[in-house]
Amino acid sequence: MGSEKAKKIKSGNNRTETYAPILEAIKRSAISGGSIQFHIPGHTKGSGILPDFKVLLSKYDAATLDSTDEFESIGTLHPSTGPIKEAQELAAKAFGAKESFFLLNGSSIGNMALALTLIKPNDKVLIGRNCHRSIVTGMIMSSANPIWITPKKHEKYSIWGEIDPQAVKNELEINPDIKLVWITSPTYEGIVSDIKAISDICKYYNIPLIVDEAHGCLWNFSPKLPTSALHLGASAVVHSMHKTGGSFSQSSILHVAKDSIIDIERLKHNLRLLHTTSPSILLLASIDAARAYLESDDGKKLIENAIDNAIYVRNELKDYQNVHVLSNNKDFKIDPTKLFISIDGFTGARLETILKTEFNIEIESTTDYGFLALLNIGNNFDEVKYFVQSIKKIAISNYHDISYMEKLKFMPLLTPIIKMTPREAFYMESEKVSLEDSIGRISSQIIAECPPGIFILVPGELITDAHLPYLRKYKEISVLK
Ligand SMILES: Cc1ncc(COP(=O)(O)O)c(C=O)c1O
Repeated sequence: MGSEKAKKIKSGNNRTETYAPILEAIKRSAISGGSIQFHIPGHTKGSGILPDFKVLLSKYDAATLDSTDEFESIGTLHPSTGPIKEAQELAAKAFGAKESFFLLNGSSIGNMALALTLIKPNDKVLIGRNCHRSIVTGMIMSSANPIWITPKKHEKYSIWGEIDPQAVKNELEINPDIKLVWITSPTYEGIVSDIKAISDICKYYNIPLIVDEAHGCLWNFSPKLPTSALHLGASAVVHSMHKTGGSFSQSSILHVAKDSIIDIERLKHNLRLLHTTSPSILLLASIDAARAYLESDDGKKLIENAIDNAIYVRNELKDYQNVHVLSNNKDFKIDPTKLFISIDGFTGARLETILKTEFNIEIESTTDYGFLALLNIGNNFDEVKYFVQSIKKIAISNYHDISYMEKLKFMPLLTPIIKMTPREAFYMESEKVSLEDSIGRISSQIIAECPPGIFILVPGELITDAHLPYLRKYKEISVLK
């Protein structure tokens, strides 16, 4: 419905009808039954939710259950008391952490709280260039001086890869005043860095390592998945439980490792500083339920199913010469439940369109060369079989009849030209200019496509011709005056 129609509609008897566009949108989606989902949230329309919690949700409607902390005898989030405290302690035990903190506003708020806790103004911080935009927000909040470390570039797939431990060592040698190393593992597409080697290097230089493990919250519950950085020497880790763990959107956990040197009281203070004072008990309960499910026998079975499904997909597609599925190889390991797939002759965006329009399948995201599909704990084998059949059909068919105008390029693998820190740029005067006129100017904003929220530009970086293909959808860019 356009903006004209979005105005309150007067009916014949002069009564003002209600119109709520978001409500209308979710109604439409619920009525249509939606699509077959290989994306976040990992509970996949409820199939991956603890049965006990599902019963509660179906017996009492959301409005009956909705409340905030302090009421309903659930305790408080900040400081943590009562059942919320107990739930956080159980999470710490399940994940093997010293302490765990439930996050509303996702892993994003965990990253910001970690930045405020560990970084002092002008501290040099070594950060993987493929980090999520919330870490840049943390850099602005804490006045950090980020030193970017470039992960491996897997040009074939147009994605960022693992961080080379030797590159970390080199940077620490060139910049002995670096105070913190912060990397993302797994990457959005599932590539895992050698955290043990990186944490050993950090220990040698006596600085903490933070790992953004937003996409790895299942790992602690299956020996077939990579080992969590919590057990490999990282000081703290964030997990977006909503992405793959089965909790509701925007609910996450921050874990502090057992031998971490992080000042936990300061971290608690900063989490409180950033959090809402009205946490939703439904979101908190969903994290608690997800933790309980993941560590139960039934929950573990769902994880094993997701891994088996991943093996099935790779096996089924392996003889199709024009289909490529990102998998373990001599250079890196991946989380098998993440399927990054490319088909020769197709862009990721085109594949996404075909999957949606022809097969009613929705995937997680695309790059220039392929797309990411998540095999969630909530996906059943029939869905996975249908997904494979669909990919096979695309691989042997000619889809030229589907009109698709490819204009945008996606994840840039560029080396930034840094003119000042993000915070310096953040506080300078800015203006909006056309995309063409922005070349040669300094960005005043974070420009990041979501998903995955990895940025094209950070405040303080020079905009060059090389950025143009990635910025086509922006008519105007905010630059420093
Ligand atoms: C690597 C990474 N870290 C952090 C985040 C932020 O997580 P959330 O959406 O839970 O705030 C994301 C989101 O996509 C991410 O991909």
